[in-house]
Amino acid sequence: MHALNDLESLDKPALYAELEANLRALLEGEPNLVACAANMSSLLYWSLPDLNWVGFYLLDAASGDLLVGPFQGKPACVRIPLDKGVCGAAASQRTTIVVPDVHAFPGHIACDSASNSEVVVPVLVDGALLGVLDLDSPTRNRFDDADARGLERLVEVFVAALRAPGEISSWRG
Ligand code: SME
Repeated sequence: MHALNDLESLDKPALYAELEANLRALLEGEPNLVACAANMSSLLYWSLPDLNWVGFYLLDAASGDLLVGPFQGKPACVRIPLDKGVCGAAASQRTTIVVPDVHAFPGHIACDSASNSEVVVPVLVDGALLGVLDLDSPTRNRFDDADARGLERLVEVFVAALRAPGEISSWRG
């Protein structure tokens, strides 16, 4: 396994393969949602170049909104309705959204004025929406299809970690 500071030399497919191995090791045997989301946010923030925010928004069953969860970066918007922002769009469409220029995305929510591009991946368990994983960059066009597919794979690893008995019932409410 590469040290985090060795990852810069890898191309994107190799980088995401390495991150997948790191994430599996990090989440191994731990099904707690907050623990896994916190460590995954940190792994991504400190491994992927050119980011200013990485974290989760989790579906709040009571309100139907997305609520900020574990993240790395500056303090962020707390609550995002499903019909607002890139996060709301990815959550309601249940599809990954890559935004090359957030200033050109109608309804984009600017939590950190440093953000210029963004990718949001829905987190689904058996088709049910758990939340989204959101990454922001200060660089326009920072994210491409290789990032989208790589992050989707990492979200699958994350969801698999939560599948141990006990955890899923606790967030479904
Ligand atoms: N930009 C997001 C809001 C969350 S922050 O980027 C952390 C959006 O438009 O949904």
